[in-house]
Amino acid sequence: MSPLNPFIITSDYVSDKYFCDRRFETDALIANILNGRNTVLISPRRMGKSGLVSHVFAQKVIASRFRTFSIDLYAANSLSEMILFLGRTITDSLKSAGKKRLERFFQMVQSLRPGFKLDHVTGQFRFDLALGDIERPRDSLEEIFSYLESSETPCLVAVDEFQQIADFPEENVLELLRTYVQKCKNTYFIFSGSKRRMMDKIFNNPSEPFYMSCVPLYLDAIDKDLYYPFAANLFAEAGKSLGRDCFDRIYDKLEGHTWYVQHILNELYGRMSSGDEATVASVDGIFDYVVSIGSRGFEERFSNIAQSQKALLIAIAREGKVSAPTSMDFVRRNALKSPSTVQSALKILYENETVTRENSTYSITNRFFSFWIRRVYAGGGI
Ligand SMILES: Nc1ncnc2c1ncn2[C@@H]1O[C@H](COP(=O)(O)OP(=O)(O)OP(=O)(O)O)[C@@H](O)[C@H]1O
Ligand SMILES: [Mg+2]
Repeated sequence: MSPLNPFIITSDYVSDKYFCDRRFETDALIANILNGRNTVLISPRRMGKSGLVSHVFAQKVIASRFRTFSIDLYAANSLSEMILFLGRTITDSLKSAGKKRLERFFQMVQSLRPGFKLDHVTGQFRFDLALGDIERPRDSLEEIFSYLESSETPCLVAVDEFQQIADFPEENVLELLRTYVQKCKNTYFIFSGSKRRMMDKIFNNPSEPFYMSCVPLYLDAIDKDLYYPFAANLFAEAGKSLGRDCFDRIYDKLEGHTWYVQHILNELYGRMSSGDEATVASVDGIFDYVVSIGSRGFEERFSNIAQSQKALLIAIAREGKVSAPTSMDFVRRNALKSPSTVQSALKILYENETVTRENSTYSITNRFFSFWIRRVYAGGGI
């Protein structure tokens, strides 16, 4: 079934047709997998990590040779929660495989048996594990690894937002995981994350257990010259015309940041009828609209931020990208208090991900939020 709008923004992946480029990264990832190398995939938020992993998993060469699992640790705050997500991911994938396979899972992963329940109404078994059922998370982890390793078909496990593990309250979880991962002979991994500093620390710091244990792959924006024909063709299929000038306007304002570009294209496509041609003015109107729609949430968020952080956010939004926020120059130019006030405000904004650092420059993580701040507080257009 084809999607209502070909510019996908609510899920990470539909099919090849709606997925633009990433040839190099797809080939690199596939080569890593087929050669038994684990990968660490890093990009800013919303650049397309999960989409890339889904795309790779959907390729025949992978789908035909591996059992694939994806777990997202974004919402996991402890080892027990991680086990819960892992258990659910595996049992979900077994549902269609029949009762025997599920029973085998629970034979090997005895510690999760409390979640294996018989529904007396339907007579079906189902996995209904609650956090409270996970009493021995370390045993569960060991059993799950044994289970994956015992599979006839090799397993491929993608762990998203891996850096969460570093904040788990239990001790030595990274060490424990590293030990299991290292022992695997039949299970391969892709670890991905967007908190660059944390991911770098985990994989590039000699004192960390995962040091140099994976091949790194960094994801940047999709190439503009490849993104344009992809988008224009999808418009053309519906009799809509997207000129290069309009596309450039979108791409340039957003530096090609995937989710945001997809979002604007989705809106633009949705407003046009067959026979219509996009104009730069209509693109600008969509940016205005998207920022206005978000303004309620942005206002709320902004009002909860301390004054010194607000001032810094306004200064960053005004300049778009800032390479030396604590320099006297930047502080004076933006009438901020002092470099030390900026430093402490920046620390908080960076840690709570309101601000991102890429290639040694700081910017506001949510690009639409940045436009809104600029419009409302920095006297600038979008
Ligand atoms: N190559 C692509 N072509 C078209 N759309 C894409 C592509 N890659 C990602 N997208 C779309 O961009 C959006 C963001 O992608 P995705 O969820 O994969 O990013 P992410 O890096 O995993 O984000 P997060 O950091 O929030 O986990 C999704 O809506 C997805 O459908
Ligand atoms: Mg993701």
